[in-house]
Amino acid sequence: MTAYLLIVAGYLLGSIPFGVILTRAFGAGDLRQIGSGNIGATNVLRTGRKGLAAATLILDGAKGAVAVLLARQFAPELGEHGAMIAGAAAMIGHCYPVWLRFRGGKGVATLIGLALALAWPIGLVAAAVWLLTVLLLRISSLGGMMGAIAAPVAALLLGYSTYAVGLAGLAVILLWRHRENIARLRAGTEPRVGAKKDGAA
Ligand code: G3P
Repeated sequence: MTAYLLIVAGYLLGSIPFGVILTRAFGAGDLRQIGSGNIGATNVLRTGRKGLAAATLILDGAKGAVAVLLARQFAPELGEHGAMIAGAAAMIGHCYPVWLRFRGGKGVATLIGLALALAWPIGLVAAAVWLLTVLLLRISSLGGMMGAIAAPVAALLLGYSTYAVGLAGLAVILLWRHRENIARLRAGTEPRVGAKKDGAA
């Protein structure tokens, strides 16, 4: 029963579309009509509102972290499995939110947030790989995908086998959510961070 409650709570938490809410609340338009149409921080940045993009990044990350912390607080008996399930539910909520007819985000910030809460060294590796890739290549989607792949690898190397399996599953979902970005990367048309290109479908 507790596990089901964790899944529902994690999903509902993850499904809060902070990017959409913030851009609308601060008069930056409908995020789904801008740039890639994605609801994440990268697309919020395309509105030119850096503060809103930073807030979206932090809040989307916090959704994953809080879900894990809720599991630890209210269902400690479920251990690593409970924490992993709650975090996964948050990421699935972010990617497939009921409020947006299941058309949500791509999960990068939420995955890093939940990884940091599961075991901070795993999250740190994922965040570092993401950040370094973005800084070096200026392609947000590539950074996110590299960070997501790094997370289960780091978990495995650090001895967190349960988290390695869960994070590998989440990385597969994240890659699937980036399938349009992958097509653009292959075509050489993926926009770089900072480039003014509203037509990134
Ligand atoms: O976090 C989402 C990012 O990886 C890609 O976003 O808007 O460029 O498709 P976007």
